[in-house]
Amino acid sequence: MSDDFLPINRVDHIEFYVGNARQAAHFYKTAFGFAQTAYSGLETGNRERASYVLEQHNIRLVLSSALSPDHPIARLAHLHGDTVAVVAVEVPDAAAAYRETTKRGATGAIAPMEIEDEHGLYRAAAIRLYGDTLMKFVERGKYRGPFVPGYTAVDYAGSRNAQGKPTGFGLMHVDHIVGNVELGAMNRWVDFFAQTMGFEQLRHFSDNDIHTEYSALMSKVMMNGNGKIKFPINEPAEGRRKSQIQEYLDYHYGPGVQHLALSTGNIVEAVTRLRNSGVEFLRVPSAYYQELEARVGKINEPVDTLAELGVLVDRDEEGYLLQIFSKPVEDRPTVFYEIIERHGSRGFGVGNFKALFESIEREQELRGNL
Ligand code: FE2
Repeated sequence: MSDDFLPINRVDHIEFYVGNARQAAHFYKTAFGFAQTAYSGLETGNRERASYVLEQHNIRLVLSSALSPDHPIARLAHLHGDTVAVVAVEVPDAAAAYRETTKRGATGAIAPMEIEDEHGLYRAAAIRLYGDTLMKFVERGKYRGPFVPGYTAVDYAGSRNAQGKPTGFGLMHVDHIVGNVELGAMNRWVDFFAQTMGFEQLRHFSDNDIHTEYSALMSKVMMNGNGKIKFPINEPAEGRRKSQIQEYLDYHYGPGVQHLALSTGNIVEAVTRLRNSGVEFLRVPSAYYQELEARVGKINEPVDTLAELGVLVDRDEEGYLLQIFSKPVEDRPTVFYEIIERHGSRGFGVGNFKALFESIEREQELRGNL
């Protein structure tokens, strides 16, 4: 798109604010196969916070904890529980991204800034996304450091891909980033992405598409100009019982990122390794697999292997996809993960929504929140 006023190269990183970044880093390393590549904390001269940078192929997570009770990181982790605080995208020009989006109505959070160190020139800026989440613009074209200024590289002995990134369990990219917003707020955020960020609407799921006997939600998917970045946005809908989106909002104390979908080229291997490392996934009833081939036709993967792992399948006119959803990865029923392998389909698994949401509701019921 030649008139793309907000060119985005990639998702640069996702930063979590957590209660104990050291222990969260251990979890993401052992359970999800990430490797630590950089660190900032007391030992590197950072008196305010500890931050661990974890990587796996093109996915970069940053886990941060404050070292004092009044630091904003401490306050937000206290309010929301462990939470996605920053969605950072790499752009060619951070100041331009800030200028173009604030001109179109975005609320500025970090005015354009730059830091020069021995690794080069780093520039960044940020605007406000839903809730307390920030959308950060990172410009690293002239920066060659391990992460951003203030971080030191951490040695990693495991296997690396051709780009020098840790290979871990074979999780490759952030496929999409899903936000939950309050009842009635979805279209405001759709407008934000459309008008402020220049994104297009890719999909719309109404409460007719996404409902069970008990509860419902609505969802719209926003995509940037080059199709690399997708932000589905959910809002709760009225149902007989509490929507899973409302449960999130109640425990997160406001809107925020609900799940990150991480793509892989081999979901059977990735999910086997994740399961063996202790990641817990949602299960659907075995009847799902008896009807599978009739619903989606021929696929490359053996259905009994998918059934054993609990991997779901959906097909649309462009191809098929394989996906599975973790249980929430913290005590509050908030953030969870999706693992996805795409074979042509650019969809989100609408054919799985009902089975999946019934599975989520069984968990909600166990928590006393349905
Ligand atoms: Fe998803």
